[in-house]
Amino acid sequence: MGDARGWVPSSRLVAVLVWVLLVPLSSVAICPPRCTCRDDTLAATCADAGLEVVPIQLNPEVEKIDLSGNRITAVAFTLSFYNELRHLDVSRNRIQSLRGKSFESQSRLLFLNASHNHITSLGKDAFRGLKSVKVIDLSHNQIETIQDSSFKDVHEVEVIDLSHNEIIYFEEPAVLKGVRALKTLYLNHNQMNDVPTGLLKNLPSPCSLETLTLHSNLIELIEDKSFPSSCSNALKILTLGDNVIRDIEAAAFDSVCKLTTLDLSNNNLTFVPTQQLSKLNQLTRLDLSGNTFSELRPVAFQSLFNLRVLRLSRLPRMRRVDSRTFVDNMHLETIVMEDNPELTRIPTRVFHGNPNLINVSLRGNALTTVDVSHFPLDGLKSLDVSENPLRCNCSIQWLWTLAQMEAKLAKNPSERPAPPYPRLKCASPKHLKGKSVVDLPESAVRCETSWITVAVVTGLMLALFGATCVGLLLWGGSGRLCRTKQDPGDPAQGDPCRRLPPGLHPSPPPPILMLMPDKRYSEDYVKNDADLKYMEPWVGDLRCPQNEYSPDVTTRKPHIVYV
Ligand SMILES: *[C@@H]1O[C@H](CO)[C@@H](O)[C@H](O)[C@H]1NC(C)=O
Ligand SMILES: *[C@@H]1O[C@H](CO)[C@@H](O)[C@H](O)[C@H]1NC(C)=O
Ligand SMILES: *[C@@H]1O[C@H](CO)[C@@H](O)[C@H](O)[C@H]1NC(C)=O
Ligand SMILES: *[C@@H]1O[C@H](CO)[C@@H](O)[C@H](O)[C@H]1NC(C)=O
Repeated sequence: MGDARGWVPSSRLVAVLVWVLLVPLSSVAICPPRCTCRDDTLAATCADAGLEVVPIQLNPEVEKIDLSGNRITAVAFTLSFYNELRHLDVSRNRIQSLRGKSFESQSRLLFLNASHNHITSLGKDAFRGLKSVKVIDLSHNQIETIQDSSFKDVHEVEVIDLSHNEIIYFEEPAVLKGVRALKTLYLNHNQMNDVPTGLLKNLPSPCSLETLTLHSNLIELIEDKSFPSSCSNALKILTLGDNVIRDIEAAAFDSVCKLTTLDLSNNNLTFVPTQQLSKLNQLTRLDLSGNTFSELRPVAFQSLFNLRVLRLSRLPRMRRVDSRTFVDNMHLETIVMEDNPELTRIPTRVFHGNPNLINVSLRGNALTTVDVSHFPLDGLKSLDVSENPLRCNCSIQWLWTLAQMEAKLAKNPSERPAPPYPRLKCASPKHLKGKSVVDLPESAVRCETSWITVAVVTGLMLALFGATCVGLLLWGGSGRLCRTKQDPGDPAQGDPCRRLPPGLHPSPPPPILMLMPDKRYSEDYVKNDADLKYMEPWVGDLRCPQNEYSPDVTTRKPHIVYV
């Protein structure tokens, strides 16, 4: 009896204690100081809130918790209060390990950011329970080893970021064998000596991997079969820059022929891997900057018919570019060849097989002259030839003209980026050394010609021109080539070009070619006829020279090239 009487109150006491303990946990959500909790969006934000543990009093329905930038050392167990989590950010904390039970109840989690912690290894059940997760960011940790079944449950993951860790190689190459949806794998900034072929081979087949980053590792050699053919249909983006690659075996890229972007910059290649790349006919972007090859041979980028963007900068030994280097790359749009200290000349017409070229940078090379005939100017939108040791003679008159245009525009005190033209400086001849091209008097760049040359050239031109026109008329040609400006009031006479057959309309006049400093100013420009005289040296239809210099904006559609 005494026993029973004593038992009842103590049982009540226990009940009260249990109630006190449980209530705040389960039904009354508490938002810790320096956190923002919203019940409408079910989001709790505790970024940089000085927390040392994962708060356990948040709304248990919470779907998004941001705990970035705290001092949390472990997430094991504490997350089990939140079964509805979709998004968890524990980046920038002090987590040292992810244990088996950390995420067991997070079957709905889609996004996990555990980057910028001190994680050194991933245990065998690190991600157990993450059945829906799509993104796992583990970058900026000190991960060296990844145990066999750590990713066993994460079938849906699309992005795994293991960059900026200390992975030397994958001891367990089958560690990703369950990730059937993986699209992006970041492995850059690790310590790998080789392409992780075993890991890739063990991805579920067919492999869905589209992006693989391997830059900033210690890879020396890309062997044949480094990339398994099970990934050949998916892999589009591959980065191998900032390694120490000195050789690529002949068939190394044959199995990844759908690549669109390949970065091989900052390696130790002493040759352009022409043959190795030639299977990559879907490639649109290629970067070979920062290597040590010394020349670009004819058709160096053979079969890269779809190449759009090519980077060839920081090549300390590059001396020679063949005029046929880019002939296979007819879709080339942007070429960047900057800071090549040994590159003293590029051949004329080197880009004439690349009619789609819109952006060319030759900044910071050792070019002494840049001829206008290097470039297919009628399509170009941007051309940078600054920081070259230019010889200021009449070959660069066209650049001088552009510089004048730019200077004139720069007088308008509006918000405008620093124009590249002040950077165009003369390195020779002696008396012009160090001067800005823009400050030169026109006489310094004007082409002087003796009267004999003028007479001979004019005579030849006239003869050739007359012969061509007469020939075309006799042959019954349409006369298209020989039109002049339409002028109905002026009966055709004297000039054979004007005698168009009756009823034949001359085709529209050729476009005016303009080189503009920047897209934004084009409108100011076209309004002002006086400015058009600057374009004249390159304007027009060379087949019928008298049409060239018409500054008549109303009949000729300006074709604008931005520089
Ligand atoms: C993860 O967090 C870091 C630092 O807070 C951030 O820089 C990174 O972009 C985040 N990762 C993703 C995938 O959003
Ligand atoms: C690779 O090139 C870098 C810089 O050009 C050089 O310091 C390094 O010794 C080279 N490494 C190898 C393995 O050739
Ligand atoms: C041309 O390429 C340079 C270098 O990549 C880039 O900075 C610039 O924005 C590009 N310009 C155009 C018009 O595409
Ligand atoms: C101007 O100088 C360049 C570089 O030395 C030279 O190649 C070119 O022939 C010169 N042009 C003329 C018209 O002398």
